[in-house]
Amino acid sequence: MAIEHEVETTGLVGWIDRRFPLTSTWKKHVSEYYAPKNFNFWYFFGSLALLVLVNQIVTGIFLTMNYKPDATLAFSSVEYIMREVPWGWLIRYMHSTGASMFFVVVYLHMFRGLMYGSYRKPRELVWIFGCAIFLCLMAEAFFGYLLPWGQMSFWGAQVIVNLFSAIPFIGPDLSLWIRGDYVVSDVTLNRFFAFHVIAIPLVLIGLVVAHLVALHEVGSNNPDGIEIKAKKDPDGIPLDGIPFHPYYSVHDFMGVTVFLAIFAAIIFFAPEMGGYFLEANNFIPANPLQTPQEIAPVWYFTAFYAMLRATTDPFKIVLMIIIALLGLFALVRARGKWKLGLPVLAVLVVLAMAFTESKFWGVVVMGGAVISLFFLPWLDRSPVKSIRYRPFFHKVFYGIFVLAFLTLGFLGTKPPSPASTLIAQICALIYFAFFLGMPVWTRLGTFKQPPERVRFKPH
Ligand code: HEM
Repeated sequence: MAIEHEVETTGLVGWIDRRFPLTSTWKKHVSEYYAPKNFNFWYFFGSLALLVLVNQIVTGIFLTMNYKPDATLAFSSVEYIMREVPWGWLIRYMHSTGASMFFVVVYLHMFRGLMYGSYRKPRELVWIFGCAIFLCLMAEAFFGYLLPWGQMSFWGAQVIVNLFSAIPFIGPDLSLWIRGDYVVSDVTLNRFFAFHVIAIPLVLIGLVVAHLVALHEVGSNNPDGIEIKAKKDPDGIPLDGIPFHPYYSVHDFMGVTVFLAIFAAIIFFAPEMGGYFLEANNFIPANPLQTPQEIAPVWYFTAFYAMLRATTDPFKIVLMIIIALLGLFALVRARGKWKLGLPVLAVLVVLAMAFTESKFWGVVVMGGAVISLFFLPWLDRSPVKSIRYRPFFHKVFYGIFVLAFLTLGFLGTKPPSPASTLIAQICALIYFAFFLGMPVWTRLGTFKQPPERVRFKPH
């Protein structure tokens, strides 16, 4: 039985309710949204992501009031904000720290989803909207990084836009079209500004709304990975559910206070975070005639950047061998049947790889690392959702995966060396093996029986 959100209000609210679904929406999504009572620390990050989103929009609006999207003025307008505009330094640091904290929060939020199987049926769309949000966030951060028009802004954009030129046939024209010029220039700055302040934020907000609507349609998962809707009282309320408001609004408020304390500490005491949040080279105005010694993206991109750099000519050959072996394996399994699609695909990919440069495959590897996330709901075949009830070796695999991702992130911040490239190649293989091997390894081992009702210890 579905929950009826009864509405009978008087006065001003009653007047509005007869014309607009105010009280019923509040009840449906807040005061009568029944969330599992066993949420833990990991469930703070969704509301924190919302908080950071609001922070980015509000501080962004104020920055735009004094920022000049013009290659001759951009750098000095940022300096003007930092030195002359009352509280301008605070607004700017809130925005630059907010960008990094957005990724900290979103990475932890995604990891929670991974641990508790929150992407599994019926939450596939919640996850897919989340992955689209992640892509948008990456685009938003990339476009925003050009705006201060420092050395890193300029050369970072130059490197990334140049990657597109590695695409066979259309590449060079495509990168020219993205830049709007033969090098990153004022034209590029203007269009990146348009994308950063309006186009991407609009899409981002739309996706966040879709993410939450989809979540509220199916209900939240929880650390035990069992469906609370399976056990309801006669009124249709899940036995293990508690109203989001006031229980989780208060709970999330506590998360917000801890987060804001950390956020403020960074802003006031270490806004550059040792060069990780704001890079030293970006305090030098963009100079198209002088390439910096090292061009490294901001930390939140470095894991993917390391995979791009790791795709050297010898690594391309290793990838070709692996794809050919997988194709052979698929052929052996398809014996006697008409399932030849995968082996044929493998042959085509290997041939394509033989005739194209490794730089292009670096882009494919980097893009593939993000795109693989979209398929997670169908890759994971484990009979239980939560990591709590999976075999021990699954936990080990999760640990190795996280370690490989962090190692890639670290290596991406450093200049490449033969040893670090080899480590990055191994970590990239681990990353893909984790996802692509899921249909096999997630079924293996002895699973614990999840409980009938959620595990909950009141405190
Ligand atoms: C702007 C970024 C994002 C915002 C504001 C946001 C917001 C939220 C909120 C408020 C919740 C409910 C509270 C919670 O479960 O923590 C949630 C749940 C969820 N989010 Fe996000 N999210 C964002 C990005 C992402 C990304 C990038 C992914 C994954 C790729 C993702 C996957 C999920 C999943 C699977 C759930 C359901 C979790 C469960 O029920 O266990 N979200 N999100």
